[in-house]
Amino acid sequence: MTTELVTNIGELTTQNDDRERRHDAALVIGDGRVLWIGPAAQAPAADTRTDAGGRAALPGWVDTHSHVVFAGDRSAEFEARMAGQAYAAGGINATVAATRAASDEQLATTARGLRDEAEAQGTTFLETKTGYGLDLESEVRSARAAASVADVVTYLGAHIVPAGVDRRDYLDLVTGPMLDAVRPYVQFIDAFCEAGAFDVEETREVLLAGRATGLGLRVHGNQLGFSGGVRLATELGCLSVDHCNHLDAADVDALAGSSTVATLLPACDLSTRQPFPPARQLLDAGASIALASNCNPGSSYTTSMPFCVATAVLQMGLTIDEAVWAATRGAAKAVNREHGTDAVGSLRVGGLADLQLLNAPSVAHLAYRPGVPLTHAVWRRGIRR
Ligand code: NIG
Repeated sequence: MTTELVTNIGELTTQNDDRERRHDAALVIGDGRVLWIGPAAQAPAADTRTDAGGRAALPGWVDTHSHVVFAGDRSAEFEARMAGQAYAAGGINATVAATRAASDEQLATTARGLRDEAEAQGTTFLETKTGYGLDLESEVRSARAAASVADVVTYLGAHIVPAGVDRRDYLDLVTGPMLDAVRPYVQFIDAFCEAGAFDVEETREVLLAGRATGLGLRVHGNQLGFSGGVRLATELGCLSVDHCNHLDAADVDALAGSSTVATLLPACDLSTRQPFPPARQLLDAGASIALASNCNPGSSYTTSMPFCVATAVLQMGLTIDEAVWAATRGAAKAVNREHGTDAVGSLRVGGLADLQLLNAPSVAHLAYRPGVPLTHAVWRRGIRR
């Protein structure tokens, strides 16, 4: 085994239980794992040595919500939105048509390009979804492409009812043959619980069908209105409910009293001009939150977790430490149960060597210098990218 010492770390955020930032630290990695963490002055010898030059080190970002398997471009829709048009679920149909027309290779190439773009900005764990195929063959092709680029894959056959298809027939397909066909490639099931997509009872039907096959549950909920998705997610014990822009007091209480993570998507909120979710209220009530990119061509075409962290601090009332936690260890909670991924999102001896160095002395610079590319180096599973 070859070992690497990363030393002269000015500020090390480990995201272990103490949540402290250490100074003048070092770590040793080998075999894809963290082997040692401690003061730089006490660092053991290793085969190679990387001088961090006083920079800040932290775990790689854990991005638990993306849709990177698609084809086509919706910049005209975005431009119209910036001129005042409202975002609606129906825009998904345009991406479905382009995705169905694309080859397997085109889908995989686009997805890989976005995954690499994310990694270059510090993302070392990526979830992605199907959901732009919406017929059996195209969902299977999407699931296969997703599995070739992402750490975990979510089946989102219940994104919308595709144009021209009977609603009941489609639900039978999503919960039956389509589910069976994508099952080898996916670990989670999701549904878009929203006006224009699926109502609460339809969402419940989809999620329970997935649970019966052993999939973990996630929901897109309360993005464009009070859809009931959040309450359903807490009732069913979903790992995560994503978006959460429109929450009443009972929704906040339900999240605070559950193990369901509220995954917040600040780049999407900006790009769709939705009100930000009440992140401060959620944290103060005791709910768990995560931050994710929601990279997709319709509502949030960015892979940048640093942008999401900066926006959460500058616009949503999170402290630096809360935002960084929500994009690393807090996010891991939204994917870890039953899927053995609890080692992501933190730096601990024996855990995965997924880390990044910032071209800055402190994680505070992520929001202090918004929009500046601060990623200096990224290691995924111990390998420098
Ligand atoms: O998470 N909200 C539903 N699905 C995606 C966007 C879909 C689209 O507009 O293409 C999201 O925002």
